[in-house]
Amino acid sequence: MRGIQTVRQLFVPAFHSGEKRQAWFLPCLKIEDKPAFEHRGLMLDVCRHFFEKEIIFKYIDLLSFYKMNILHLHLTEDQGWRIQIDQYPKLNEISSYRTEKDGSVYGGYYTKDDLKEIVAYAKERHIVVIPEIELPGHSQAALAAYPQLSCNGGPIEVVNDWGVFKEIYCAGNDSTFIFLETILLEVMEIFPSEYIHIGGDEAPKFRWENCPKCQQRMKEENLADEHELQSYFIKRIEKFLNDHGRKLIGWDEILEGGLSENATVQSWRGMDGGRLAAEQKHYVVMSPTSHCYLDYGLDAIDLKKIYSFNPIPANLVAENHKYILGAECNMWTEHVPDEINLDSKVFPRMIGLAEVLWSGPDTSRYDDFYNRLQKHYPVLELFDVRSGMENNPFGMQVIEEDNYYTILLTDMQSDISAKWSIRNNQERETTWFEYEDSNIKLMSSGTLLIQPTKKGKNYGAVTTTNIALHKATFADVLYKGEWHYSYPAKGESSLTDGLIGSHNFRDGNWQGFWGTDLDVIVELREQSEVSKVKMNFLEYSNAWIMIPKDFHLAYSLDGILYKPLEIMHTIHVGTNAQEGIRINPFILDVKPTQLKYLKVNVENYGKLPASHEAAGQDAWLFIDEIIVE
Ligand code: ACM
Ligand code: ZN
Repeated sequence: MRGIQTVRQLFVPAFHSGEKRQAWFLPCLKIEDKPAFEHRGLMLDVCRHFFEKEIIFKYIDLLSFYKMNILHLHLTEDQGWRIQIDQYPKLNEISSYRTEKDGSVYGGYYTKDDLKEIVAYAKERHIVVIPEIELPGHSQAALAAYPQLSCNGGPIEVVNDWGVFKEIYCAGNDSTFIFLETILLEVMEIFPSEYIHIGGDEAPKFRWENCPKCQQRMKEENLADEHELQSYFIKRIEKFLNDHGRKLIGWDEILEGGLSENATVQSWRGMDGGRLAAEQKHYVVMSPTSHCYLDYGLDAIDLKKIYSFNPIPANLVAENHKYILGAECNMWTEHVPDEINLDSKVFPRMIGLAEVLWSGPDTSRYDDFYNRLQKHYPVLELFDVRSGMENNPFGMQVIEEDNYYTILLTDMQSDISAKWSIRNNQERETTWFEYEDSNIKLMSSGTLLIQPTKKGKNYGAVTTTNIALHKATFADVLYKGEWHYSYPAKGESSLTDGLIGSHNFRDGNWQGFWGTDLDVIVELREQSEVSKVKMNFLEYSNAWIMIPKDFHLAYSLDGILYKPLEIMHTIHVGTNAQEGIRINPFILDVKPTQLKYLKVNVENYGKLPASHEAAGQDAWLFIDEIIVE
């Protein structure tokens, strides 16, 4: 089967174009080939968004063509239950549907017949489908239908937001185990896979800490803490699966509180969970967030990054390498509402991982891989795949040139070009210029539109960047304390570089501070009268990014003697939230003052409030620019 795929790939693209021929020609060649890793998979979350079975068939065809052998279906979540269960019909009547914030109802599930069809379709193409039934966490949809299995009895609703939620199965209630075992029996009837995935990740222990039944269980079973209670939970499920001839696989949290006897670990929080498990002679599937998360944008994981992945942890001794079975790319779908988005996230990056897993990691082969990949795009189109981009087509930098502000596009690959346009407040028409012919020069603030192109065709979407030019543009900024290393933006030039952040907090324009204040001195290039200071703050509660508590401004003419700058009033114009992410411009009208140095202190929100899922943890502060007018 895999050999046939190799031959198909040798004929890319002609063989796939539907062209009719009498004969097909290849040069004489001899191929000796075998996979470097035995587990080569894609995990697809069909819960946050639901994908019709025809889309699953298409993905099975693609997995097969790229010699992958595992489709891991993430079937249950806080936001929806997607598998028919006969014994508990409310799992489909209630748990499969959520009421969105706008009142609409979203949901669906696969019937047993659908799933059996999927399994059979996959089997014909030598793909194993591994079902994932999440426990004890990510189970709020199930608990909405059967709240008696939660610690405090509900009422509970199917979640219509993204994040990690505290309602989890009660570990002190035997009915929980009867419920889950009954479900697993039905699951095993549909899926013949050796492995059953039980999730195990991100189970907040808050309910267990406060539940008499869970605490009683811990006493009876001599469990030291709630992590050991989770471990008890997983071990009990593992025994059940083993008794039915199946193996348990779970996310790396199943290491916490003691790994059950035969469990296989899927390492997602970096490589270390995988290394630890392998050192304990447990099998491992790798899918670290650093390389394998296809829900992440190209700024975090581009094609070259995924191709550089080595599933073997660097610090794992050779004799334990055999425990690393392979890897999966993880396709979480919170922000993937439909097939077009799904395609653009999975392709072409999944092909990069497919080659790593089949041929073994080798970064020196990247250019060769890249060139071979180009021939696959027409074939992907025939598969009805709308591929995304390989990498961010450009970076952006603002420089000063002949008294103009010039925007440079940086890090452009040689086969990429771009068109650009500026939208000022007055102008409605969009005139496009070729970047190669014409530098991007700005005389006033505006919105820069960039359309990357590849081989004369538009490549990806137009990017929109707001640019603010103001009295502190290019001013030196002196930091007392540092930004967090994960969100440096452009470092010490970031807050005066004119680039305004978008709703994507990883766009490279947002600088992040975790649990600390922003404390800087902006040195204007010349003494000026200042009457306004504007700052945008990102707000994304689910990612712990909060608006600041307070602002303090001081000014100086000589950089030695500072006086408080009087804030006359503050206008806060929060824009509409997009998927819970809001940009908050704060406009501080200050008493008009001559100054050369502006000291800006922005107080971090502090600890997350009691109402937050991560109450008590440090909040993030995200800022893009200090605009001085
Ligand atoms: C995971 O990403 N929570 C496995
Ligand atoms: Zn409980």
